[in-house]
Formats: sequence, C-alpha cells, structure tokens
Amino acid sequence: MNGKKLLIIYFSGTGNTRSVAEYMRKNMKKHCECDIFSTEKLPDDFDINHYKAAVIGFPTYHSQPALPVMKWLSKVKTEKNIPVFLFTTCGLYSENSLRHFALEAVKHGLIPIKNSSYRCSATDGMLLAPNMEIWFRHENGLEERISSDCDDFMGLLQIHAPCRIPAEKWYSVLNAPNKLMGMNYRHRIYLDHNRCTGCGKCVRSCPAGALAMTESKFRIIFSQKCISCLRCVHHCPSKALSLYKWKNVERVWENTLDIS
Ligand SMILES: Cc1cc2nc3c(=O)[nH]c(=O)nc-3n(C[C@H](O)[C@H](O)[C@H](O)COP(=O)(O)O)c2cc1C
Ligand code: SF4
Ligand code: SF4
Repeated sequence: MNGKKLLIIYFSGTGNTRSVAEYMRKNMKKHCECDIFSTEKLPDDFDINHYKAAVIGFPTYHSQPALPVMKWLSKVKTEKNIPVFLFTTCGLYSENSLRHFALEAVKHGLIPIKNSSYRCSATDGMLLAPNMEIWFRHENGLEERISSDCDDFMGLLQIHAPCRIPAEKWYSVLNAPNKLMGMNYRHRIYLDHNRCTGCGKCVRSCPAGALAMTESKFRIIFSQKCISCLRCVHHCPSKALSLYKWKNVERVWENTLDIS
C-alpha cells in the first residue's frame, strides 16, 4: 500500500467485534502493516490522516450502529476521502445499520468501498433468554468469510474501487416495533448486593457514563444517560447485575438519579 499503514478501528461492547477485528488484523498483516485500536483507547497522537485506508467495525445494537461508534465518527475529520471497509457484528440481522453508518461516514471524508455483516453470538439474547442455545453461536464459516473479505478489500484498494453504500433493506420495516422498543425502552437492571464487591468495573466499563458508586458501599446509581447497551451486566466479574429479579436483588432503576 505505498508504504502507508492500514487502520483497523472498532468499538466492541462485549468482545465479538474486537475478536473479528483482531482476526482481520492477522489476515491483513499478510498484505500490509496495520494498526489496530478500539475507539475507546486511542493514542494521544491518533490521526486518521496518517492512514491510507481503514477497516471500521461496530456491533449492531437495536438495529443501529452502537451509539459509541457514532459518537467517535462525529469527531472524525479528513478531507482525504479515505477508502474504508465497514463491518458490523450482529446477533441475528443487522438491518440498515451498515447503510446508516456509511451515509454518515461519507460526510466525514470516509468512503465505504466494502461492507460486511457477521452473525456472532447475540449478547442481548443471551441475557434475555439464557436457555436458548442459538444466542451463543457464531455463523458457520465465519473465519473463512472474514479472510476472504480481507483479500477482497485489498483487491478493491488496488483498483481504486468507487464508493458503495449498502442498499436500503426495505423489509426492515417489519422489524420496526422491535427497533422502536429497543431504542426507547431501557431494560431494568437488578443488583444483587450479596454478590457485589464494589469493584467499580461496571462504572468504568459503561460507555455512557450512566453509572456511579455512591458513598454507601456497593450501591450503584443509574442515570438517565443509560443507552441500554447491557455492557455493565456482561462486564461484572461477580455476576451481581442481571436483567431479572431474584432473591436479594435490588431493582436499581428505582434509584434513578441524573448524575450529569
Ligand atoms: C443492547 C443490545 C442490542 C442488540 N441489538 C441487536 C439487534 O438489533 N440486532 C441484532 O442482530 N443483534 C443485536 N444485538 C446483538 C449484537 O449485535 C451482537 O451480539 C454483537 O456481536 C455484539 O458485539 P460486541 O460483543 O462487540 O458488543 C444486540 C446486543 C445488545 C447488547
Ligand atoms: S448503565 Fe446502561 S449504558 Fe451503562 S453499561 Fe449499563 S446498560 Fe450500558
Ligand atoms: S462490576 Fe459488579 S461487583 Fe463490581 S461494582 Fe459493579 S455490580 Fe458490583
């Protein structure tokens, strides 16, 4: 790639998108040098203009690109029309989330020339209905598809392929009620005081700054900022947070307080 590096950048709530991005890095290293970053941990001197091309990955949450990646995109500035490969991971169906991101990306000087959606374990489903085995599986042949997509992207770069915005999937309207519900309904999250060690990992991992520990130990306060990403539940090492109420569990939504 004429001596310039490839950038792989992703947001990942619970690890699926990070795993795909890391697997891509392995593949891309055959072709060129690349840097890989999470949008949450960028070096101080990060500048997208240092890269000739980029791969951008994000999970689909509530039929949309996860909000933290949209926030990152809103700050991107380049006049260089950098060609990008967009990918999303989803549990079932990514709807128009790649299209949504692609349309916004072009406004920031990023030109999507390839787009892919990978079906991974469903990190919402596994919390909502943990007995359903289907939520825990990735699509068959995922690795092969990722490898082939990486080769394809490198080929498209060579031929200076034009911008390609994913077409509108009009049949997504059938999922509109589910989408509206996901975007507007904040699932209640319950805290088990007996399990909580007060480690604060949930607070640190919340991408929306919606959690805070109170002075009285082990008490967690949720704010209206919550984007219902469920990351805190996944990241709690003591399994003290849950979407369901069981013995000794406090309904934390009843302690809603805006801590902005
Ligand atoms: C809050 C939330 C909402 C989700 N919404 C959708 C969705 O609308 N459609 C879908 O196919 N998968 C959905 N998923 C599943 C994720 O897209 C999928 O598990 C993804 O691979 C998670 O990536 P991550 O581990 O990098 O966060 C959702 C997951 C979460 C946690
Ligand atoms: S408090 Fe809300 S926004 Fe923060 S990690 Fe938990 S679910 Fe996500
Ligand atoms: S991550 Fe879990 S154990 Fe740690 S403070 Fe949060 S709820 Fe408590």
